[in-house]
Amino acid sequence: MSDAIQFRGVRKTYRTRRGEIPALKGINFSVKSGEIFGFAGPNGAGKSTAIKILVGLLMPDEGDCSIFSQPCGTRDAKKMLGYLPEVTLYHEFMSAQELLRVHAGLAGFRGKDRDERCHRALERVGLSERKKSRLSEFSKGMKQRFGIAQAIVGEPKLLVLDELTSGLDPQAQASLLELLAELRSQGLTIFFSSHHLAEIEKICDSVAIVHKGEIKAAGSMNEVLGKEKKLRVEVQVHEEPANLDQKLWSKGKSGSLVAYLDEEAAGRAIRDLEDNLKSVVSAHSQRRSLEDLFLELTESKTRAANTL
Ligand SMILES: Nc1ncnc2c1ncn2[C@@H]1O[C@H](COP(=O)(O)OP(=O)(O)OP(=O)(O)O)[C@@H](O)[C@H]1O
Ligand SMILES: [Mg+2]
Repeated sequence: MSDAIQFRGVRKTYRTRRGEIPALKGINFSVKSGEIFGFAGPNGAGKSTAIKILVGLLMPDEGDCSIFSQPCGTRDAKKMLGYLPEVTLYHEFMSAQELLRVHAGLAGFRGKDRDERCHRALERVGLSERKKSRLSEFSKGMKQRFGIAQAIVGEPKLLVLDELTSGLDPQAQASLLELLAELRSQGLTIFFSSHHLAEIEKICDSVAIVHKGEIKAAGSMNEVLGKEKKLRVEVQVHEEPANLDQKLWSKGKSGSLVAYLDEEAAGRAIRDLEDNLKSVVSAHSQRRSLEDLFLELTESKTRAANTL
């Protein structure tokens, strides 16, 4: 399979009146054609900066990136691309059909061809029955569907979505994920950023975790999370022991500690906590979850940085 996206040594520093902000510190990863790729990272990690470079809205200071081997920012790269930004502002007084015609017109389509493309795009995102409704009458979930329609109206090969599902209820979120899976089955490559790690784990073929401008993990779900099941042990402690084995334990949610262990090692690790152990929250066999890996790669580093 050919690569749909390649980032090679991409660096970007914002120069502001208050100093320099290094947003990307030389990132490398690739996305294969035909896959759904999840781009995860805490707030301020650099996701939107990388996406803006990918779609040609920002130039990197160093390194390069390409879409199906075409340098990002060029006309050839842009032709293959559909993009839904993190923040969208629509002309709310226009109907979905009218506004989509404007977008299709900006993409260079005219007349009957443009109308047919709009019709197809609205159908694909499940909005045909509401095509005459104004954007002001749309819920957030419907607006995001419209956002996908404007991104696919030019029939791109690559769809780039920045925070597609943030602020949506679980049903709207699930139905948008179904739509992404459907679009993938129709041959689209999809790159999307998200804070919903469970949704990335569920739907994506591959993932990258970015933290403070660096890629901490990237690859297929199996490469990143491993195939093997281990005993996932989660405990609450009264106080974090000073000699805590940081290679074993990482911070879970709400102050708990989490470790993935073989069965014999689990008993030993729990015993080693001694009087600090408050309770064992759970212990069951599973593959490492993306959420645990994410916390391990982002939280523990934060914890280490905070103790300096
Ligand atoms: N236009 C800008 N000018 C100056 N600094 C910026 C600008 N845009 C982003 N930054 C900084 O660059 C870093 C990365 O920001 P970015 O928006 O790429 O993160 P993000 O991962 O998309 O975060 P979020 O999840 O909150 O959307 C942050 O420190 C941010 O403050
Ligand atoms: Mg962002």
